[in-house]
Amino acid sequence: MEVNFVDKYEFITDGLAQQGYAICDDFLWPELSNDLLQTLINKRELFKKAGIGKQNNFQLNAEVRGDYISWIEKDSADKSEVIYLQSIEGLMQYVNRSLYLGLKDYELHYAYYPEKTFYKRHSDRFNKTSSRILSLVFYLNENWKAEDGGELMLYPEGKPSVKIEPIYGRLACFLSDIEHEVLLCHRDRHSITGWILNQEKELNFLA
Ligand code: OGA
Ligand code: NI
Repeated sequence: MEVNFVDKYEFITDGLAQQGYAICDDFLWPELSNDLLQTLINKRELFKKAGIGKQNNFQLNAEVRGDYISWIEKDSADKSEVIYLQSIEGLMQYVNRSLYLGLKDYELHYAYYPEKTFYKRHSDRFNKTSSRILSLVFYLNENWKAEDGGELMLYPEGKPSVKIEPIYGRLACFLSDIEHEVLLCHRDRHSITGWILNQEKELNFLA
């Protein structure tokens, strides 16, 4: 079974235009989400501790974030990863036609937050020249319950905060300059996080 991506893209684009974010449930069909989750679980022990900032500013700091990550590379992507990459490529093209954000590329990584970890309030734009324009988080947590914590909090400027549960199949998409945080997780939390960029990924080191 496949989903009609155009409806999802339209829904996400409308949300971005109206409020700077969109929460899209059932973004992928269950078999594909299951495959991605299986790959994530199989590779989880090889994930690297995530850092803060880039290049010279890169620091490991468990006080700020406790997740482990693994980048999805286009060259070595498996079948389900290729489909996910294509779905984000499609979103990028749709958003470009509607919102003129000049998006050019994207980068995605698996993320694993072990129980008792979090990511303190931050912006995904490390500095003013950051090429990250849209942030995307696709959640892969089966039977997530309120007491499991780990919600994504968005803090749009001058507007009430928004609490988003990281439930299976949900894609959260928001402008990367909106501050946000991941609340304390009371169980392991899995997702694929990514960014749509306004320049080629390879040029990212210039930022
Ligand atoms: C991030 C981030 C949010 C989430 O990786 O920068 O803010 O819900 N993730 O996992
Ligand atoms: Ni973030």
